[in-house]
Amino acid sequence: MRELLSWLSVGADPDAFPYETVVAELHRTGKHFIADDLLVLLDQVRAVTPQAEETRLLRDFLHVVLDKRDGRFDYQSYLGLSLLRLHDEPTDDDRVDLRRLHDRLFVHLIADALAFELAAESGATQLLPLQRPEPARVAKRYRLGLRAMSAALARQGRPAVLDPTEPAAAVAALHAMVVADQSPAERRNLLIGMLPVYLVHDEYLFIRVLQAYETTFTMLAAEVRATVDALTDGHAAVAADRLAYGRELLTAAAPLFSLLATMQPESFRTFRVYTEGASAIQSRSYKLVESLCRSPDEPRLSSAAYLSVPEVRDRVLAGQVSVEHAYHTANRLGRLREPGRALLDKRIGEFAYALTQWRQTHYRIATRMLGTRTGTGYTEGTPYLAAARSIPVFTTADNARLPT
Ligand code: HEM
Repeated sequence: MRELLSWLSVGADPDAFPYETVVAELHRTGKHFIADDLLVLLDQVRAVTPQAEETRLLRDFLHVVLDKRDGRFDYQSYLGLSLLRLHDEPTDDDRVDLRRLHDRLFVHLIADALAFELAAESGATQLLPLQRPEPARVAKRYRLGLRAMSAALARQGRPAVLDPTEPAAAVAALHAMVVADQSPAERRNLLIGMLPVYLVHDEYLFIRVLQAYETTFTMLAAEVRATVDALTDGHAAVAADRLAYGRELLTAAAPLFSLLATMQPESFRTFRVYTEGASAIQSRSYKLVESLCRSPDEPRLSSAAYLSVPEVRDRVLAGQVSVEHAYHTANRLGRLREPGRALLDKRIGEFAYALTQWRQTHYRIATRMLGTRTGTGYTEGTPYLAAARSIPVFTTADNARLPT
């Protein structure tokens, strides 16, 4: 508080905002229980912060921190997604390589989740002190986390150590390497993007796994959009490659679900009391991927599935072109020729299979953690997911076909 007041009194320079102090205070209580006087002060900071490019990070941070006070806590603000700086479309800067950015952020998130496990196990941190997991569970997390990062690390030319005899040592070495390569801005964004609602240890893992999946879905949306463009230009082989890359990303991220399955169900039930209103049904990136593959049918578009993501719904209503639509158009115009077409059909089937598998695994983990409880997105919970599982990803492909 004192630091914040003194920051305000010496000119409120956005680059000098005491993020670490504010985050430490949030971590002390959990976001749901932030002291009211701190919230009042942060609200004042928001009021005096001008709308300018230089203040964007600070404004995004305050938007995330004040979500509960403003009564608009949701999935985006719970995960601090605006603070992770995800891109699903090429930026004005041609040098920004989205695939490289994705891999980098994905590794940073999971390496950080494992580093928290290490710190807690060695007693080096008092962060989220409730319901610490037992050592065998933590060792499993190290192995699964290393596996989840392995494909992204390999693309960076840094082969991961899989199934190490000393998983804790392997994680420590990897984390040291990752941190040494991080910029101060990347480190700060990771810190301010971890705002648990309560004090239970496993919420850290939950947040990082969701953020890592969001990173992956954001990249998938970019790949699927590029597939649409390639089809529109009649480049079947390029479209096939983009879908293949997307499928690889989704398949390689699968250990994340195994990692999340190590969450203690009673811990999940403890902190989810304070996450009501934040549900991945509000995930824009997931619905972008879904709707870019195939435009949702009217009943789904008018249901909670899309009413929870109004921007994506608006895009669909405005005529967003999907892979399925672009495929039919290209076919009608005689642009899908062999051998590109056969490969494309195969890739479409593989992508649909991977996404269907993702839904299936998600359904299983939700059932295990939730039982018959309702979801935080105000659906009836797993029955919603059971129904959504069988929605075809594409109707141009047999979704259930196993890739050969
Ligand atoms: C403890 C683990 C999890 C549980 C219990 C769970 C539960 C649920 C439930 C009940 C829903 C239905 C909407 C609602 O009422 O909230 C849902 C939707 C969803 N979840 Fe999860 N989830 C879990 C983990 C994840 C993870 C790690 C992701 C990755 C991003 C994820 C992504 C999604 C998506 C994208 C939807 C929307 C699906 C659709 O609208 O068709 N979930 N989840």
